[in-house]
Parts: sequence; structure tokens; C-alpha cells
Amino acid sequence: MLMIILIIGSGGREHALIWLLAKDSRIIEIWCAPGNAGIAKERLQNGNLVKCIDIKTTDLSRLADFATEKKVHLTVVGPDKPIGLGIATFFRFRKLRIFAPEAALFESSKIFTHAFNSTHGIPQPKGQNFDLDRLREAEAFANSLTSGSVIKADGLFDGKGVVLCKTSIEAHSAIERMLVRDEFGPAGRHILIQNRLTGCEVSAHALCDGKNYKMFPLSQDNKGDGKGNMTGGMGATMRTTPLGGNDAMRIENEIIKPWHNACLEEGIVYKGLFYPGIMLTDDGFHLQNYRRFGPKVLEYNARFGDPETQVYMPMLNCNLLDLLDACVEGTLDKVDLKWKYGVAVCVVMASNGYPDSLTAGEPIFGIEQADAVPDTKVFHAGTALKDGQIVTNGGRVLGVTSWGVDLFEAKSKAYQAVGKIHCQALWYRKDIGIYAP
Ligand code: GLY
Repeated sequence: MLMIILIIGSGGREHALIWLLAKDSRIIEIWCAPGNAGIAKERLQNGNLVKCIDIKTTDLSRLADFATEKKVHLTVVGPDKPIGLGIATFFRFRKLRIFAPEAALFESSKIFTHAFNSTHGIPQPKGQNFDLDRLREAEAFANSLTSGSVIKADGLFDGKGVVLCKTSIEAHSAIERMLVRDEFGPAGRHILIQNRLTGCEVSAHALCDGKNYKMFPLSQDNKGDGKGNMTGGMGATMRTTPLGGNDAMRIENEIIKPWHNACLEEGIVYKGLFYPGIMLTDDGFHLQNYRRFGPKVLEYNARFGDPETQVYMPMLNCNLLDLLDACVEGTLDKVDLKWKYGVAVCVVMASNGYPDSLTAGEPIFGIEQADAVPDTKVFHAGTALKDGQIVTNGGRVLGVTSWGVDLFEAKSKAYQAVGKIHCQALWYRKDIGIYAP
């Protein structure tokens, strides 16, 4: 069967998915809405280029009309917003096959997630939800959290709806910005306040078909600009080589499995990617002199992580489309999930001024030379084509991913490739790949 695929999104995550799908000779056309300059350069096995189509990721009607018109076999959704808007339910109503869960509340409501975890005994930070009518109680609750607090807008707010606070003054200011000054709009009119945890943050990913799940190896997303400002992930690492610890096993037993059982119990048919952000906290659990961290849920995402997907895709050693199709069909137990042996590291290059301001239209040189470094792929995010030249066009611009047998090799190649890219308007962190979970 020859197939046409539609990918929704424009980041490094979507480029990584497309790069792998383009290797599948059954796929005769890939469309990406809206895509970017790097995605538009990917070539399929039949010689066709991937085609970018200018449809907004939130324009569900146009996306569904397009998928119908083009007879798309499978639509794969990258970003959170269309999932939060209920694209999965909308597409399934239109009899269109889609890789995205209908349980949008896991992505779009922090309060729902917190309540779900409380009901099912899934470990998470202590927390309570509030609205403007309970402003003083919200402040008092934040004061009671002596190790700091996290103030979360209930809804999606472009990845900026979470404020980490060390002091009560910072917490009161965040609460006021959300509940009183309405700076976060409807997303921040209900808030969740949680205890701030310290430890090691990791990302878990599991494919789900409504009945079964298959978990990926753990990965880590390096958020922040290294100077204390929060950003989208500035790098990622993952390993398939055994580390000798039991973090993945504990996360599966204490979070993924209970969450999966809870979905079955509540009649939630979850078909898609489940990605909990997790803090490995010190809970005094000792095992064989190794790590003694207990996993707690920080957030749930109903989609692939970015930049995590940029390290997962090069390491996948089985057919991606078969896995995605199996999730939609409920046959995940019949498909193998296999990985190459080794470690992958992704270094993100971002526009100067990111996360506060953006520069666009600056030429980028050396991408081909970077791609020529062995076991390396440069994934595009905020790029555009201007008079035949790749230029910057967003916050996170490129994700330079390399892989090797160990962390040292993967990291060395990734930074060697970064060194070949020249653009006066890009910066990157120098400390990615110090650790792979
Ligand atoms: N890795 C962060 C995210 O995908 O939201």
C-alpha cells in the first residue's frame, strides 16, 4: 500500500519525525503544515520532496479538509495546541486517521492532571488549585511551601505558563499576574500551586494504543539559558546502553503503569504518545549504593517531546510508521520497539535574544558541513528560505544531533558539527551532554 502522510507542526520534533518517515519506501507523499526550510529539503525514497503547506496548526477545519482532499493515510500531530483544542476527536469524527490522543485534558489542564494523580495515587508534588475568589488562600498556601513553589496557569500558554518561585514574594507576584492582572488570559484564571521539587529532571515517553503501552528509554531535556532564564529545551540526551540503575524501572512501575491502569479503569482510550515530565527526587530510598531518587510527576504531555524527539528518532531501530499505525489500530502488542545501541545528544542553537526577543532573517552558513559530520543530523526549527539562503526565523532555530557508542562520542560529534555552523545571530549552551539518564 502506498501512503500519504500529514505532519502538523514546524519544529525540530516534526523535522525528526519526517526525516525518519522519509526513509520508508511505502510513503509516496509527506505534507507538513506549516513546516520549515529544513523540512522542505527532505527527500522521500521516490525522489519527491516533502511539501510544506501554509495551514496554521490550530486551524482544525482546514487541516481536516486538507487531509480529506489529499486522502491522507495518517496525520501525526507534533505541538500541544491542536491536541489541547481536541484535534483527535475532531479528526476521528471526520473519519480521518490521526496519531494523537483524544484525552486532551492531560495536555491542556494542569488541574485535571493533579486531580487525576491524586485520585490514583500517582506520586507528584503537594499542590492545590485556586481562582480569584480564593486569592488570599492561594497566597497563604504558597507561603506554607517552605522549599519554594511552582505557580502554574491551568491552561496552555505557549510553554510559558509555569513560574518557578524561590520566595513568597516571587510567588505572590506570579499569583497576582495570573489571577488579578490577567496577564495569562483565560489560561491563568485558574491556577495550580505546587511544592517546588529539587532533583534530576527526566522525560519518559510511551506509545499507547488504548490497551497496551510501550515505553522508550528515558531522556533528558536541558531547559534554560544557563543564566537562570527559562527557555524551551536547549538540548537533549538519551541512551540505550544500560546505566546500571533502576530509574526507568521505578518510573514504569510507579508512574507509567499506574497511569495506564487508571486510564483503563476510567474508560479513557488513550491512543498516542504519553510523555510525563518527571523529577527524580531524593526520598531516602536506597538501592545497592546507587541512586536513591523517587520519581514524581511534574507534568503530563500528550505528544512527543521537543527536543527529545530529535534524539529518539536517530536511535530508533524499527519502523516508525508501523508503530504509529499500531497505536491507531490498537495492535501495539504485535509490533516491536527496538533501539540502536548507544547514546544520542542534541545541541539546540537559538536566536540571539531568545527567550525574551527574537531576531529573524539572519543568514546561516555551514549546515551542509555540519550534516557531513559522521552520525549527525541537523534538524531545523525556526528557519526559513530567503532568496535561496537559509535564514533564522524563530526562537529555537536548529537542533544539531549526533549519536555514538557512548556519551563522549555523541557529545564530541555534536559540538564538532555545531562548530561548523556560522551565523552571527545564534547562541547555544556549551554544557549539553554532561549526563544522559
Ligand atoms: N521537552 C519539553 C516539551 O516538549 O514540552
